[in-house]
Amino acid sequence: MTNEQIHDTIASGYAGGQIKLQYRSNLYNLADIARKVTDSILDIGSGGGASLGALALASPPTTKVYSIDPNMPQGLLDRIMNWGLSGKVFLVPGRSEDVVDRWDITLDLIFIDGVHEYGAVKSAAESYGEHLNVGGYLAFHDYNNYRNTVGKAIDEFMEEHTDYKKLLLEEELYIAQKL
Ligand SMILES: C[S@@+](CC[C@H](N)C(=O)[O-])C[C@H]1O[C@@H](n2cnc3c(N)ncnc32)[C@H](O)[C@@H]1O
Repeated sequence: MTNEQIHDTIASGYAGGQIKLQYRSNLYNLADIARKVTDSILDIGSGGGASLGALALASPPTTKVYSIDPNMPQGLLDRIMNWGLSGKVFLVPGRSEDVVDRWDITLDLIFIDGVHEYGAVKSAAESYGEHLNVGGYLAFHDYNNYRNTVGKAIDEFMEEHTDYKKLLLEEELYIAQKL
């Protein structure tokens, strides 16, 4: 599926049928890396399902996409069904900091967009990053937002983990690769 087709599919689930331009570019970048993975993907912070949808629509058919969020509104469940992703997406209700204690799935891609606070972002990267395969991708949203607390967490994480290299920072989306 092309990025434009992914956008149109996802946008059909939202009032107005549009994803705002800045976030559209984030979804395209996420889709581009999701196409390259084989093992599972984790989306932290399901929200309305846009990132989850892009990751699941772009990744290979056998790749499972997990998404953690304490809130799972009916609209999210409806979108996943309407986008034809019921067999590929696995929703994990709960807070990522609680779920991590029982997490035992190896991952090729992690997208962190849950709690936008310094400590939460850094500890999510640390704890879930342990399950990331070498060559896998660690992506974060909102690098410059939230008074730059997210960016500070990302910068510190990268300084302290020289086994990751920065690939991209564009429109608030930061992507690193585990070496
Ligand atoms: C900005 S939204 C995510 C948007 C989503 N990436 C999308 O494309 O629609 C942030 C989400 O994080 C969720 N959240 C809040 N606390 C959380 C936690 N402790 N663990 C995981 N998700 C959390 C919120 O319920 C919210 O749905």
